[in-house]
Order: sequence, then C-alpha cells, then structure tokens
Amino acid sequence: MLAALVCAIVGMLVIVDVHNREVHDRQAQITESIDRMQNHIKQRAFPSTLAPSGDEAVQVLNPQGQIVTATRQVAGKPPMAAFKPVGDRLRTKRTLCPPAGLEGCMTVVAYKISQPDGEWMVYAALPVVPWYADSTLVIFLAVMTLLITAMMTMGVYRAVGRTLAPIEAIRAEMDEITATDIHRRVPVPTSQDEIGILATSVNTTLNRLDTAYSQLRRFTADASHEVRSPLTAIRAQVEEALMYPNDTDWPQMGQAVLAATERLQELVNDLLLLARLDAGAALPLVPTDLTSIVEPELDRRTSAVTVIRDLQQGVLARCDPERITRLLSNLLDNAERHATSQIKVSVRGDEDSVVVEVTDDGAGIHAEAREMVFKRFTRLDTARDRDAGGSGLGLAIARQIAEVHGGTLTIEDSEQGTRFVLRLPRGGPTGAG
Ligand SMILES: Nc1ncnc2c1ncn2[C@@H]1O[C@H](COP(=O)(O)OP(=O)(O)O)[C@@H](O)[C@H]1O
Ligand SMILES: [Mg+2]
Repeated sequence: MLAALVCAIVGMLVIVDVHNREVHDRQAQITESIDRMQNHIKQRAFPSTLAPSGDEAVQVLNPQGQIVTATRQVAGKPPMAAFKPVGDRLRTKRTLCPPAGLEGCMTVVAYKISQPDGEWMVYAALPVVPWYADSTLVIFLAVMTLLITAMMTMGVYRAVGRTLAPIEAIRAEMDEITATDIHRRVPVPTSQDEIGILATSVNTTLNRLDTAYSQLRRFTADASHEVRSPLTAIRAQVEEALMYPNDTDWPQMGQAVLAATERLQELVNDLLLLARLDAGAALPLVPTDLTSIVEPELDRRTSAVTVIRDLQQGVLARCDPERITRLLSNLLDNAERHATSQIKVSVRGDEDSVVVEVTDDGAGIHAEAREMVFKRFTRLDTARDRDAGGSGLGLAIARQIAEVHGGTLTIEDSEQGTRFVLRLPRGGPTGAG
C-alpha cells in the first residue's frame, strides 16, 4: 500500500519534470523558428513553402495581413490566429483549441516584427504539452508502480508466512493433544521472540494440566480402592453369616456391618467435601472470634486424655466457622489418637495472623514425613488398627480448608509429640482479608 503510494508520488514528480522540460524545449523551438523568420523578413527572401526545424506550424504575414509564406500544414490556409501583441509588446502567447486550419489544442505565439514598411507578423504553433507529457512514459511508470507493489506484497506475504509457520506448528500439535496424551508438548521455535514465549507458556500450561490430570487419576484410583475395602468386609461378613446362620451371633454381625458402613459413609463424606473444596467455590467468610469456635468444639469432645486450653479472647479472623470447626476436629481426632496423656490447644493473635496450635505428647512425626502426611490417603501408622484411624484424608482436608481461607497449616518443631500450627489472616469487621 505504502509502496504503491511512494511509487505514485515519484511517478508524478517524474511526469511534472518531463512536462516542464518538454514545454521549455517547445518554447526554444518556437523562438528559433521566429528568429529564422526575422532573417527572412529582413532579407525579404521567402521560400514558397517553409521547411520548419521541427513539427511547428509557421505563417508569416506582411503588413497588409497577407500570408507571405507558411509551413506545409498551414500553406494556403487563412491566418491561424487573429490576435496580435498589443502596445510595446513584441510577443504574445495563447492556447487555441484549435487554431484556424489546424487540429487539437496548440500553443500559438504571435511575434511582431517592425519594418520600415510596417508591422510584420509571425505566427508559430506547436501542440500543447499534455499534463502527462508523454503517454509511453505514463504507461512505463504505471507498469513499474504495479511491479514494485506486487514484488513488495509478495515479499511481505512470504515474510508473514515464515513468521506464522511456528504458530501453525503449535496449532497442529495442540490439535493432536487430547485428554489421553496430555504429556505431549508443542514445538518451541529457537528464536526467543513472542512466538517462542507463547510456545513456552503453552507448554507450561500443559505441564500444569498434565500434573493436575495425573493427580486426579491417582485420586480416583485411591478413592475407589478405599471404598472397596469396607465393601468387601461387609460382604464377607454377611456371606459368612448366611452360610452358617445357626452359628452366627447376629447382633454382633449387625454391629460389625454397621461399623463398616459408618466408615464407608465417613469416607464418602470426606470425598465429597474434598470435591467441593477442589471446585474452589467461594466460602461465606465472616469475622469470627477463633476462641468462640475452639471452645465449644473442645467442650463437645469427651477425650480420654487431658486437654490444656490456652485461649486468647477476641482474636478475629475472617473465616467460615463450619469449615474451621471441621479442620479443628480433624486435628483433635489425630491428637487424641496419638497423645500419650495430654493435648494442648492454644489460640493467640500474631501481628497479622491468628495462630491456632494443637500439640500432643505422642510419638511425633519424623521431619521427613511432615509434608507427606498432608497428601491424600497418606497413613503413617500402618501398624495400628485401621479402624482406629481414618482414611488418610483428614489432614489433606484440613490443609485445603486452611488454604481456601488464605492461611496455612503446617507441622512445626516441638519438644515432644506433634505440633500442628494453623495460621489464618487476621480480619476484624472492618479489617481486610
Ligand atoms: N498428631 C499426630 N501424631 C502423629 N502422627 C500423626 C498425627 N496426626 C496425623 N498423623 C499421621 O498422619 C497420617 C495422616 O493423618 P490423617 O490425614 O488425619 O489421616 P488418618 O487420620 O485418616 O490416618 C496419620 O495416618 C498419621 O500417621
Ligand atoms: Mg485423621
């Protein structure tokens, strides 16, 4: 587009220049012709037909207005023009369309030559130079303009094609990637331009999806496995009872089946809660005094071990009380199970967070296992009876609840046993967070 414009402007300049030169040349030609006529008039020697130096038409008129001599185009014709230079002027130029006896628009110069016998006139005419100066020139320029534009367009097209090729490669690979072969990655071009950055960021996204997808698959497999165990137990017990109905203690079997069903129910509830937390729905967060959540939960429990309370009043955190109660309950379940004789629960306000600690005096958790226990379905105490514990989802749920509140849940060093530390962002009725 720009190329075409530039070509057109250059072309116009060339045309104007050629036009000016042509006009100048014709002026010179006419002037020369008139000079020659001046000589003829002075010597009174006129050829019957004038041989012009170029293609100009010339007529020489005597003081009586009779044509004395003329070039072939206007020989035997009336004077081509009637105008004369007025006053002191010797020369007048006009454009006539056409001059008498000629064709087309022509520039006619009338030249007055004073002689003893009166005023002689010379008329000389040449075709007007058209605005485009020369049609061949115009065609040449137009063709050049078209050619240059076409070449530049092609060049741009090729360059764009070369630039877009890596994008096409990325698209093709993206089309091939489906949910089942999500481990594939798009090609990253060697150039570190925007496309390279795009490819890298697409691959980063694919990495994240890949990780999320494998986690989901592992979770589904683990969950199915966990559901299967109590189901198998229930089935075995019922089958055995039916096989030996008379040897069966039916109430005891009912108790066993009920216990397995309860475990199953708990597990399914935990799975549903995790699914809901995973969905990341916004929780109704209200500024709450943490002690007002911890205290009733401790009161409700009938613990076999001593529970020491160190609860600071009036520390507010923006939270969903129901979820925090659930988190606390998971920590207390574990602590009660692992404590030797006592549990300590504390609530205090930090500079910018509310800290809740649950510490027991049990065997503790080895430093290397401290992160692992927060993973779904992780159980360390395999030696213990499974029925005593849960499904290994308790801490995973607790940590996720902490995180949806914008807080953290970690295990920190303690003199004895395990110390769980929950930190929630502080927030009063007007406070942020
Ligand atoms: N207070 C604690 N002391 C020692 N080990 C603990 C404590 N709390 C949790 N654990 C370990 O972390 C594992 C995961 O805990 P959790 O997610 O609550 O699962 P579950 O209670 O169902 O086993 C437990 O199996 C246990 O081995
Ligand atoms: Mg637990």
